[in-house]
Amino acid sequence: MTDAPKDASRVLIFDTTLRDGEQSPGATMTLSEKLAIAALLDEMGVDIIEAGFPIASDGDFEAVSEIAKQAQNAVICGLARAAKGDIDRAWAALEHAKKPRIHTFIGTSPLHRQHQLAMDKEQVLRKIEETVGHARSLCDNVQWSPMDATRTERDYLIETVKVAVASGATTINIPDTVGYTAPRESAEIIRDLLANVPGLDKCVVATHCHNDLGMATANALAAVEAGARQIECTINGLGERAGNTALEEVVMALKVRRDIMPYHTGVDATKIMRASRLVATASGFPVQFNKAIVGKNAFAHESGIHQDGVLKNAETFEIMRPEDVGLSANALVMGKHSGRAAFRAKLKDLGIELGDNAFQEAFVRFKALADQKKDVYDDDIVALVEDERTSAANDRIRIKFLRVICGTSEPRSADLTLTIDGVDHQTTAQGDGPVDAAFAAVNKLVKHEGVLKLYQVNAVMDGIDAQATVSVKLEEDGRFVTGSAADTDTVVASTRAYVIALNRLLVRRGKNAPNTTISLVG
Ligand code: KIV
Ligand code: ZN
Repeated sequence: MTDAPKDASRVLIFDTTLRDGEQSPGATMTLSEKLAIAALLDEMGVDIIEAGFPIASDGDFEAVSEIAKQAQNAVICGLARAAKGDIDRAWAALEHAKKPRIHTFIGTSPLHRQHQLAMDKEQVLRKIEETVGHARSLCDNVQWSPMDATRTERDYLIETVKVAVASGATTINIPDTVGYTAPRESAEIIRDLLANVPGLDKCVVATHCHNDLGMATANALAAVEAGARQIECTINGLGERAGNTALEEVVMALKVRRDIMPYHTGVDATKIMRASRLVATASGFPVQFNKAIVGKNAFAHESGIHQDGVLKNAETFEIMRPEDVGLSANALVMGKHSGRAAFRAKLKDLGIELGDNAFQEAFVRFKALADQKKDVYDDDIVALVEDERTSAANDRIRIKFLRVICGTSEPRSADLTLTIDGVDHQTTAQGDGPVDAAFAAVNKLVKHEGVLKLYQVNAVMDGIDAQATVSVKLEEDGRFVTGSAADTDTVVASTRAYVIALNRLLVRRGKNAPNTTISLVG
């Protein structure tokens, strides 16, 4: 079976936010977040969703299998190393999908052969034959990737692809695993393969680029010009190290510059902002302000000359309209008279889905915010519901009460009550400042080994009544988790973010020990 579209100018979009994206340290997502992201990707016309790496953990397996059952349109793909056990596990997670795909890979570059695999060239070829053949015996849609392809000897790369195609692969993906290639070379590799591998023209050729040198989008587009017809990408460019090709960039580049790149995708670009917000919230990775397409400043015009031009004719300084990517031109500003229905409609518009309890809590907080601020903007709402969204109803640690004393004279102290597994625990603690005191109070009640790796505060909008969004990143045993929260009180936002991160740490630990007890200190 092949996914090759009849239309030669159609480029398939393969989204790997839930696999390569989630591999970014700290970007762990919960099952409900993954299901919400997959549902939106499916709805917006992504062709293939790589839902996870089923053998990596029970959580990954469950996510792939639930997404496989829920997907309506997209092909659902699961990753597997070149091992029978991996492939069988991927298939077990995928078999209920309407359209399943097994994606198997092996390192082919000299460095990977020697140091990762301890195999010679011939052994790697035999492994490809065996594992692609096995995957094909289970599923008629098989993608194969030579990991570190762009640093593999070209002749040998051609040999590996010949074996994969002869063994039944239907998609051949060429990963620039370490973000090393440049556009001209990216194109050359695809052309070389198409010219030298018999039968490759019957397969889909894909490109998978990492952004270590900032060239992932350019490399992907160059590969398309050379004949690739599947781009692997992630929302917001999330991914290992500097990330992957950003979905929003390739989709919009192909739309805006159709004159020089006559290709198109099936993605409804007006859903891009929703997807970007959803992924930023779920992963805890905020979008950089000047990120192409989805950054807060991507459509903002500050200089007088630009503002004047845009007011006279938007095209003077805009190559696309905000509405094209789902930013409503006249966004409804919410205030204290907005009711539940308007709030629900606004959340839907912003791509935020909350369960009933989380919705009620978010609404209460929205009302409280609207009492403090005259106008509540989209970004305020996104920030406000962030912790409601990420803190699931089954969060084990919740803040019941917090009061801090701070100012020019010491001591700065925090009085805190946490509800842990349904039981209230109270303590007080001191610190160098109010946030330090509040975190110290949390640490007195919850024993953990998490080391604070990042503490970041941003103002959501301008003005002294602005909410603060706080992001916190913790590391425990080499695993990272993040928490983000917003409040007009920076200390409350900080403590919420910290507690969200701790809850995520428990979810992470729970993958290995589901009934982990929370040790209380003092
Ligand atoms: O970057 C990479 O090589 C990968 C492969 C698993 C395709 O993500
Ligand atoms: Zn990758």
